[in-house]
Amino acid sequence: MSVSIATSEAPVPATVQRDLCLGSKSRMPEFSLAGKVVCVSGAARGLGLTQAEALLEAGAKVYALDRLEEPSPEFWELQKRAVEELGTEIHYRRIDVRDTELLNNAIEAIANTEGRMDGLVAAAGIQQETPALEYSAKDANTMFEVNVTGVFMTAQAVAKQMIRFGNGGSIALIASMSGTVANRGLICPAYNASKAAVIQLARNLASEWGQFNIRVNTISPGYIVTAMVEKLFEQYPERRDEWPKQNMLGRLSTPNEYRGATIFLLSDASSFMTGSDLRMDGGHAAW
Ligand SMILES: NC(=O)c1ccc[n+]([C@@H]2O[C@H](COP(=O)([O-])OP(=O)(O)OC[C@H]3O[C@@H](n4cnc5c(N)ncnc54)[C@H](O)[C@@H]3O)[C@@H](O)[C@H]2O)c1
Repeated sequence: MSVSIATSEAPVPATVQRDLCLGSKSRMPEFSLAGKVVCVSGAARGLGLTQAEALLEAGAKVYALDRLEEPSPEFWELQKRAVEELGTEIHYRRIDVRDTELLNNAIEAIANTEGRMDGLVAAAGIQQETPALEYSAKDANTMFEVNVTGVFMTAQAVAKQMIRFGNGGSIALIASMSGTVANRGLICPAYNASKAAVIQLARNLASEWGQFNIRVNTISPGYIVTAMVEKLFEQYPERRDEWPKQNMLGRLSTPNEYRGATIFLLSDASSFMTGSDLRMDGGHAAW
């Protein structure tokens, strides 16, 4: 049997030629989120708020969902910047992701107002450090209720609206490297199990919702210096020195280092990516 091998002399298939963007006047237009409506849970502060800012810069209109009565002062600064500098908007909706009825009503109301729903970054999450032998069922259930069921119900509420409008969409769930490895010296069995569940949940949602052109992926960050982690450092100051030694880059990350991943996953730049986990942990879990 003869096998034909393509060489550089071979003509480029017409389909490939049509896809070439050479000569395009815009710069990487597939990363633009102009005109898109995106919800971000856990966006009153921390990583969620930083992701919201990146989405605004890429052109999206953003709805921040969080259980805090008032978002952090930075939220209001960002709201001003969105209108004055970026020509878009960010709004706050107080929602506990455990309240499924409120969650669905709020997301449906956003979709009704905007006439569309294009994306979700699910960053709301909690952390608890307790040895496995001392963990109560009540605390374990709370962890799973927020980090797994809450994320699941947020994705479901957003997907329902995406399906209603028929334009597809993209969902990024914030998991963690702790969904892949057990952290050395960080005792949080339920949290780590919850993040493994988020990674597996995303694969299943992706498999069910691909038919609606809804993509679902996870981002698995390594240690990020946010309010959540600062609180741990106050309790265990030695971790400030220990943790950076556990990854290949020898440092901890900042929330800004996940901006690009979110824009990539929410935009057409990742149009053929679904059911994947984007692990960004300075090589922690590769060692
Ligand atoms: N900080 C890290 O090192 C790190 C690493 C990997 C993954 N993560 C994940 O990133 C996400 C953001 O973490 P962060 O460090 O910014 O934490 P954070 O505590 O600063 O922010 C989490 C936000 O989620 C909100 N939230 C919590 N429970 C909620 C609920 N029931 N309903 C609605 N909102 C709720 C909080 O009010 C808060 O604003 C979390 O999912 C976390 O597990 C963090």
